[in-house]
Amino acid sequence: MDGRILLKCVIFMCLIACSTGRELKLKDQGTIYNHTLATILVEYAATVYVTDLTELFTWTCPRCDDLTKGFQIIELIVDVKRCLQAFVGVAPDLNAIVIAFRGTQGTSIQNWIVDLYWKQLDIEYPGTKDAMVHHGFYSAYHNTTLRPGVLSAVKRAKELYGDIPIMVTGHSMGGAMAAFCGLDLTVNYGSQNVSVMTFGQPRIGNAAFASYYSKWVPNTIRVTHEHDVVPHLPPYYHYFPEKTYHHFPTEVWLHNLGFELLAYTEEKVCDNSGEDPSCSRSVAGKSIMDHLTYYGVRIGGEDGFCRIVMNRGLTAYGTVDVDGNVILSRDIPASVLRMNVESNEKGRSI
Ligand SMILES: *[C@@H]1O[C@H](CO)[C@@H](O)[C@H](O)[C@H]1NC(C)=O
Ligand SMILES: *[C@@H]1O[C@H](CO)[C@@H](O)[C@H](O)[C@H]1NC(C)=O
Ligand SMILES: *[C@@H]1O[C@H](CO)[C@@H](O)[C@H](O)[C@H]1NC(C)=O
Repeated sequence: MDGRILLKCVIFMCLIACSTGRELKLKDQGTIYNHTLATILVEYAATVYVTDLTELFTWTCPRCDDLTKGFQIIELIVDVKRCLQAFVGVAPDLNAIVIAFRGTQGTSIQNWIVDLYWKQLDIEYPGTKDAMVHHGFYSAYHNTTLRPGVLSAVKRAKELYGDIPIMVTGHSMGGAMAAFCGLDLTVNYGSQNVSVMTFGQPRIGNAAFASYYSKWVPNTIRVTHEHDVVPHLPPYYHYFPEKTYHHFPTEVWLHNLGFELLAYTEEKVCDNSGEDPSCSRSVAGKSIMDHLTYYGVRIGGEDGFCRIVMNRGLTAYGTVDVDGNVILSRDIPASVLRMNVESNEKGRSI
């Protein structure tokens, strides 16, 4: 190879390296992957696992700080029987409504993962042709106390703060619920400014569902990490395209390159197929450890018990329904409202 060709190669490789930079716009979709935003949202997705409801509701848990400081919970919803948990609140730094769903906790993570291999596409997604999803994931959001709780909190937040963006997030099974929630808000409630970011999410539906989903919620980032097993499940059978599960876009695959002193993490923004073979699908994906760490944040996989901790003071904010579900909600303190009005130049009247 002569020198000029070599030089051209080097420049070309630099260009490729530069183009995998941190904030990258996918032209065909308008999806923007924002590294800074991802490192903030992963904190919310991790915090929703906290079992002490008092700490969570008052945002005083050990990890309720730094990147999520000042978060105002509007509603905290716990489905005790099914061991599901979610919150809705307003993040002043992001000037957005944040909705977070907890992943599975009632059973050991190993058992839950083994079960994922056998999940069927067993319910039609309403209002679409040919779109099939997994009933268990679907009903965890749609057929529990989570959905009405989330919807009423979003309505209240919008009354108070106006039409600020809505960011929905979750890890693992919580990512599946986040996707259903983002779609629900967009399709059924006409919300304009919904984005979804999930971490280590399983597949939830077939290809028809994936394309329906990405049409309605194009601003979706599905983060996967190294060999995390969960995004590989339920399995994708490429030789059986009509019947298989199929991820929606856009995947961002976090994986390590280089070694020793030169090791670094690449955040690869994948193609818009949802099943980019050069992203997490390029590895076998058998790791549970990689499932439990995203952006260096330990997330989920606490003990195998489903429990809640709640002190008596909290009952003033709560209702407990006949099934034992807990819904804690509050009106935003006046001081916070005033702050928001002052910082809002349009001066929305409240
Ligand atoms: C990325 O997100 C952060 C946090 O929300 C925001 O401050 C920043 O402006 C965003 N960057 C771009 C390029 O949108
Ligand atoms: C919702 O839950 C109820 C009671 O648990 C059940 O009878 C019903 O079939 C469920 N519907 C769907 C669509 O899952
Ligand atoms: C979404 O929210 C941003 C920030 O508040 C705003 O600039 C933008 O116009 C909104 N987009 C839509 C479609 O409402």
